[in-house]
Amino acid sequence: ISRKGSALVREIHEKQSKNKSRQRFWELAGSRLGDVLGVGKTEEQIDADTAAVVEDGEVNFKEDSRFSQHLKKDEDVSDFAQSKTIAEQWQYLPIYSVRDELLQVVRENQVIVVVGETGSGKTTQLTQYLHEDGYTINGIVGCTQPRRVAAMSVAKRVSEEMETELGGKVGYAIRFEDMTSCNTIIKYMTDGVLLRETLAESNLEKYCVIVMDEAHERSLSTDVLFGIMKKIVALRHDFKLIVTSATLNAEKFSNFFGSAPIFHIPGRTFPVNTLYSKTPCEDYVEAAVKQAMTIHITSPPGDILIFMTGQDEIEATCYSLAERVEQLISSTHKAVPKLLILPIYSQLPADLQAKIFEKAEDGARKCIVATNIAETSLTIDGIFYVIDTGYGKMKVYNPRMGLDALQVFPVSRAAADQRAGRAGRTGPGTCHRLYTESAYLNEMLPSPVPEIQRTNLSYVVLLLKSLKVDNLLDFDFIDPPPQENILNAMYHLWVLGALDNVGSLTDLGWKMVEFPLDPPLAKILLMGERLGCINEVVTIISMLSVPSVFFRPKDRIEESDVAHEKFFIPESDHLTLYNVYQQWEQHDHRGDWCNDHFLHVKGLQKAREVRSQLVDILKQQNIPLTSCWPDTDIVRRAICSAYFHNAARLKGVGEYVNCRNGMPCHLHPSSALYGMGCISEYVVYHELILTTKEYMQCATAVEPQWLAELGPMYFSIKRSETSLLEHKRKRMEEKLAMEEEMENLRKEQAKAEREN
Ligand code: CDP
Ligand code: MG
Repeated sequence: ISRKGSALVREIHEKQSKNKSRQRFWELAGSRLGDVLGVGKTEEQIDADTAAVVEDGEVNFKEDSRFSQHLKKDEDVSDFAQSKTIAEQWQYLPIYSVRDELLQVVRENQVIVVVGETGSGKTTQLTQYLHEDGYTINGIVGCTQPRRVAAMSVAKRVSEEMETELGGKVGYAIRFEDMTSCNTIIKYMTDGVLLRETLAESNLEKYCVIVMDEAHERSLSTDVLFGIMKKIVALRHDFKLIVTSATLNAEKFSNFFGSAPIFHIPGRTFPVNTLYSKTPCEDYVEAAVKQAMTIHITSPPGDILIFMTGQDEIEATCYSLAERVEQLISSTHKAVPKLLILPIYSQLPADLQAKIFEKAEDGARKCIVATNIAETSLTIDGIFYVIDTGYGKMKVYNPRMGLDALQVFPVSRAAADQRAGRAGRTGPGTCHRLYTESAYLNEMLPSPVPEIQRTNLSYVVLLLKSLKVDNLLDFDFIDPPPQENILNAMYHLWVLGALDNVGSLTDLGWKMVEFPLDPPLAKILLMGERLGCINEVVTIISMLSVPSVFFRPKDRIEESDVAHEKFFIPESDHLTLYNVYQQWEQHDHRGDWCNDHFLHVKGLQKAREVRSQLVDILKQQNIPLTSCWPDTDIVRRAICSAYFHNAARLKGVGEYVNCRNGMPCHLHPSSALYGMGCISEYVVYHELILTTKEYMQCATAVEPQWLAELGPMYFSIKRSETSLLEHKRKRMEEKLAMEEEMENLRKEQAKAEREN
């Protein structure tokens, strides 16, 4: 991996900060995203986001003359689709031609695997067919999605097709947002939501059919659900399970469910001409921009879809594209066709996401710049050109450091093919791969590594424990996660006090399960109960659950930093978040107040929704909303009790080292603790962001004795010689006991494995 790709991003950001007429860019880009994009990420984050770029080389631009011939015909096709009402379009989907056979197979089997090209109608039509076939008389038809965006947008689409209100007959549920009612019969939800529902009702009695959509994505929750579904299928004969998948894993899913039949939806796709870069490209943002401009100027109509890895790259690409279109207009003085530049990534607000589905005005070409969200979960019609950088972001857990990091990786061959396929939905298309054919053949993995094998499993282990899966290796995983990751997760839960010495849930653990939160966040909340500061911690957790509310536009960084400093509570970024939220409340949640203080009103509103959901759960649990204000020490103790594994000790100005693993970590310049005269010797932080430096995200100063008291497995206070020895001996004993238990567990698991 080289860091060369960041050069362009940096250059653009420099230009952006010089360019005072930023607004003009967004007008140019054809969208009013100025207030959403440019969200306060640091230069370093941008660097990391674009860190993966292959070595030198030039992308080759090949013209594709076939277009002029085929386009006329295919334009007709898409015009036709556009001119039909939404309620009429479904008849033209590939799945419609096999509707009756498909329903027959569902009637005859309890589990089926449905395979079909993206866009064939699986997600929007299957649920409706099941409803039409009478299944909803006996319960809800549920459909899981690995992504929140997909769950929302598909539910909206289906409610339109059925001509009902969203949230009525057709609804959706994602974490912290439930758009369903007692009338809901078709429910789209994230797989995480369904997984949580199995806690309350292990047999999912209210569902008659579950469609596990996009199963090939192998998200963490989908993989866990597979094991749970297998049990439900065995217990409930009135229950049906439909697994939909790209061709990739169909066989594997079928085998997992005892050779369930595989139903193929005949494809209706057009050939895609794939062009490779002759040499590895040095800067894929730059290369993609060039390629898109070439297509825009020289190729026949048809929209462009560019795959980037994340928000920053997408912003940089959009910016650069808009700039080049403008340059072209001013240098040629000719009419350049309009290019509608549309970003899409999961953190983009829903109303702006919806823009990618709108038809461009006549004569204009859409250029959608997306993360891998557009690979399978969203279907956009009218794409004739795909530009594939060959990279995507993946969350990867490093068990040795005990942290998750979103990192850029080359995509798999299966994902690359899926990306290319997006160009062949409306007519024959072209895919420009910004990597060499040899990289495709020799360097890319055939298929992606399932999430369960690469992420932090604390949350999953907690859930499975509460589902009484005592020996985690007994659990029927399609692909079991590495043992080291399971043991690490168990250790972390034990350290937090959620598991006891024999690996069973403690009272605290059982309480933690009730909250749809990462275990350490749930621990803060419950410590808040014990210490009497629930009101404060629930706000802090809500603010941590949404993207940063601090708006740092690149051209007004200093001004916005000054505005943010007014909220600082010098000993804690967590408390600073609390302060922001409190003041927003005191100003009646006003949007203009947010603008004046460089805060994202949407983020605050989302935090308010999250907060109200958490407060509801607290009420159900009979936990009163206690407050300790203005004693902030209590809140810091609650935070310390859950994040002592992320404790760091001061080494130099703004420089710390992690107390456990010695990893260097830095205070971020935007932190309340930075340069405020409060150079605390010890801090705990929410998470570490790996960029050019290791930055602590959201830090709070803590007292060393709190660490010893709340995290005795890691910390002790140095005492006089004798008591120190005594202390050491005790800790050693504890450590040995723990290791012995772990060893026994390991043996047990190994034994179970052998027996399997
Ligand atoms: O799930 P699958 O990829 O097989 O297809 P789908 O998501 O059911 O999409 C079927 C059709 O519905 C696509 O051709 C899209 O044009 C359309 N659709 C849409 O217009 N808006 C959405 N939010 C979802 C689908
Ligand atoms: Mg789908």
